[in-house]
Amino acid sequence: MSVAIALDGPAGAGKSSIAKRAAKALDFIYVDTGALYRTIGLAATRKGVEPIPSIEVEKLLSEITVDLTFNEKGEQIVLLDGEDVSGLIRTPEASMMASKISAVPSVRAYLLDLQRNMAKSHNVIMDGRDIGTVVLPDAKVKIFLTASPEARAQRRYKELCEKGMDVKYEDILNDVITRDYNDSHRETAPLKPAEGCVMVDTTELDFEQSVEKIISVIKENI
Ligand code: DC
Repeated sequence: MSVAIALDGPAGAGKSSIAKRAAKALDFIYVDTGALYRTIGLAATRKGVEPIPSIEVEKLLSEITVDLTFNEKGEQIVLLDGEDVSGLIRTPEASMMASKISAVPSVRAYLLDLQRNMAKSHNVIMDGRDIGTVVLPDAKVKIFLTASPEARAQRRYKELCEKGMDVKYEDILNDVITRDYNDSHRETAPLKPAEGCVMVDTTELDFEQSVEKIISVIKENI
């Protein structure tokens, strides 16, 4: 039987980088489910489809294929109709589109089996918004990772600046606040702590401390 760790929390809490490191240390596969929503967002942008009305989105879903695979380094690759779009989905515009499209129920239903099948066949640390509440409610360990909006915006700002992107801190903070609101107020699978989850707040923790904390929570509960 495979073991699943559900890791949920708001945008920019450090889930992906922390989970990647923890997965390596524990020899689990790291699955970033946000990348799947971003990929559908990219497909919608390319085809000029608005997230609402959802009928247009349903048509879009019937025309595309989204797949998840791993390269030789064990890094996740997302494929849109066979094309590796892992890099293209990492822009602020793609983040906003993903947030909007992830509120459409048919998009969430479309991705459910893909996510569950990954957890059936591998030991996973799966990061998202609804992993402990909807996708893997029976996960062995459920963690809700968070930090203040300012701390999260500051981290994302630094990350994007390091990539050479021309961004403003205030815009990133506004994006974080808007996405928090969208993610936690949508009707289908809103972001909220799962029952029985362990809450971890990283506002005052640096990266290494956060990784250590997550690994120890997993080891204690596994
Ligand atoms: O984790 P991320 O920033 O890459 O996620 C992009 C968007 O996708 C985010 O606004 C919320 C949404 N999302 C979701 O609704 N459910 C998930 N399991 C993962 C992401």
